[in-house]
Amino acid sequence: MIQSYIKEQAQLIHNTLDKKTQDLPGVPDHLRESMRYSLLAGGKRIRPVLTLATVEALGQDPEKALEIACAIEMIHTYSLIHDDLPAMDDDDYRRGKPTNHKVFGEATAILAGDALLTEAFGWMAQGSAKAGLSSRVMAQLFREASNMAGIYGMVGGQLSDMEAEKRQVGLAELESIHQRKTGALIAFAVRAGALVGGANENLLEALTEYAYHLGLAFQIQDDILDVVGDQEKLGKPIGSDQDNGKSTYPALLGLEGAIEKLKITSQQAVDAIGTRSDLNPTKLVEIVDYLLHRDQ
Ligand code: IPE
Ligand code: IPE
Ligand code: MG
Ligand code: MG
Ligand code: MG
Repeated sequence: MIQSYIKEQAQLIHNTLDKKTQDLPGVPDHLRESMRYSLLAGGKRIRPVLTLATVEALGQDPEKALEIACAIEMIHTYSLIHDDLPAMDDDDYRRGKPTNHKVFGEATAILAGDALLTEAFGWMAQGSAKAGLSSRVMAQLFREASNMAGIYGMVGGQLSDMEAEKRQVGLAELESIHQRKTGALIAFAVRAGALVGGANENLLEALTEYAYHLGLAFQIQDDILDVVGDQEKLGKPIGSDQDNGKSTYPALLGLEGAIEKLKITSQQAVDAIGTRSDLNPTKLVEIVDYLLHRDQ
């Protein structure tokens, strides 16, 4: 069952993150604690699970991509810490606990985010060596990490998200914001798995299409859950988007329209890879369905 697969893989990610951040020689205690507080608070671990599942779909041993997958979760966790800051979404609750800045203060929270992002690149270097990547593939992996997490992806998308507060945006602009702030890192998670798994150009393209649709669906669902979700299950506040005057799918299309768009986009993700014979797409397809029905 896909639920138990995801749970197992998420546990593996959690244990690896825990082990690798227990002993960080020379790092100030307060910084290590702040990093570990958010990193080990829980979370679905869907990005690293996607990396591992992609390697497996290509018939390779997912263990090869473990450090790289953990690095992607570190980048994601940094983005959550910064996203919750008073200057951004100003939220007090995350992964079922008070947000990082509420516990450690804003300065440490900012630096813990910086630390997770920077450290992730170190882990990717270690992980690339362990996976036996050629220097050409490794360079591509790093270039893509920088593009997708940075100005062309998540960071650019987060800025556009802030600029779209308290004004009406069109569907195309909203899609571009969501693709960059959330879709790009999810696409990187899949592409990293594809690079480790040795996918050819054609497969890489199909997997990227899958991931972008999945990433968009994921953020549409996130927007929907911000309206109709259960705070205890989600581990974060609901109603945050409305409080901040965010541009979201429910705000633009209404709840019914957003749910419809979620279904269409999820189906597009499945269609991108579902019938390929040069891949074992079962788990990747099941993950789409799992996320479509998530309540956390
Ligand atoms: C929340 O991501 C932020 C978005 C990009 C939508 P997740 O829903 O994956 O959060 P965690 O990792 O499970 O806490
Ligand atoms: C977050 O989007 C995207 C990120 C890059 C973190 P949201 O602001 O909607 O994420 P949540 O709802 O706070 O998790
Ligand atoms: Mg936000
Ligand atoms: Mg937020
Ligand atoms: Mg949200």
